[in-house]
Amino acid sequence: MLRIGIIGTGNIGTSHARSLAAEVSGAEVAWVYDADGARASEVADAVGARAASSPEEVVASSEAVLIASPDALHAEQALLCLDAGRPVLCEKPLAPTVDEALAVMAAEVDLGQRLISLGFMRRFDPGYLALKAAIPSVGSPLIVHNVHRNAFAPYGLTSSGTLTNSAIHEIDINRWLLDDDYATVQVITGRPAPDAPPGEFDPLLVVLTTTSGVIVEIEAFVTAHYGYEVTCQVVCTDGVLDLGDGHYVTRTAGGVRGQAIPELWLGRFGDAYRSELQAWIDATLRGAACGASVWDGVVATITANAAARSITDGPQRIDLPPRPALYG
Ligand SMILES: NC(=O)c1ccc[n+]([C@@H]2O[C@H](COP(=O)([O-])OP(=O)(O)OC[C@H]3O[C@@H](n4cnc5c(N)ncnc54)[C@H](O)[C@@H]3O)[C@@H](O)[C@H]2O)c1
Repeated sequence: MLRIGIIGTGNIGTSHARSLAAEVSGAEVAWVYDADGARASEVADAVGARAASSPEEVVASSEAVLIASPDALHAEQALLCLDAGRPVLCEKPLAPTVDEALAVMAAEVDLGQRLISLGFMRRFDPGYLALKAAIPSVGSPLIVHNVHRNAFAPYGLTSSGTLTNSAIHEIDINRWLLDDDYATVQVITGRPAPDAPPGEFDPLLVVLTTTSGVIVEIEAFVTAHYGYEVTCQVVCTDGVLDLGDGHYVTRTAGGVRGQAIPELWLGRFGDAYRSELQAWIDATLRGAACGASVWDGVVATITANAAARSITDGPQRIDLPPRPALYG
């Protein structure tokens, strides 16, 4: 049994802890840490783990570490894990800023071994896997339309935060779907929804082009009130594919036809989180990493930051550093 330490036991850290304890094989949650000690103790009690007094104690005492703290802490905590040679599943984003993301990549490259798997869990979602597999059956992609709506902004609303925290999922998953990198990005703003603080925009329309000329368009709307919803439609040369959610049936009864809409991502992506955790444990036991790499995280953070700059400075080119050999 792999002894896992979890840093951050909020929404997703708690969900991962429960899933590792009850649904995933090959691992046990041994240690948890949260800046809110009561929260950590509650989760520790629920999963039979011990509450640590610092992230350092988690890293020193565990065989592998899951980072689920706020975005701004991911890079420093990932560096702590790399220093100790611990395999890591780091929640997305790798970091909100490009400098921090590059620092993590430099440390992993120096180590010469991929220890970090990045929590872009949509790569494990049955819906996205089916969508990717179906693309060759309808020719080659021309445009991808994406919608990412949250009922409320979970960590406060800033335009750049929407890009580096929420739309970064689409930035990663479209690159993975298309096996292509981005060439340009432009964000279009309009009349802000009522919950947007002064000077911030919501929704945002993100328009990217890839190096092969595919247009990727993302509506990112984080105060949509009605629920959490993600859609993706791939328009190809010989047909159109729509992402299925695999969960919610259309119900016709009482004169109404409709579907339930989850309030949070946990409802829509439960299978993806579980598969991601199982894949991470299996890979770690084999001495490997899985899913999105630090390189994927660096590309996503560079792209999200270029998108944020485009709000004030207009269309941006996406310039990537050389890809280190470690990331194939
Ligand atoms: N992959 C996904 O779909 C997905 C979904 C949700 C959240 N996330 C990511 O997971 C991270 C956590 O999100 P959340 O929704 O659980 O947030 P949250 O606010 O519910 O939880 C964050 C937790 O971190 C704790 N914390 C604060 N400072 C800390 C520190 N120094 N060390 C350790 N813990 C500390 C907080 O007390 C809180 O309990 C974010 O980076 C978010 O982007 C990813």
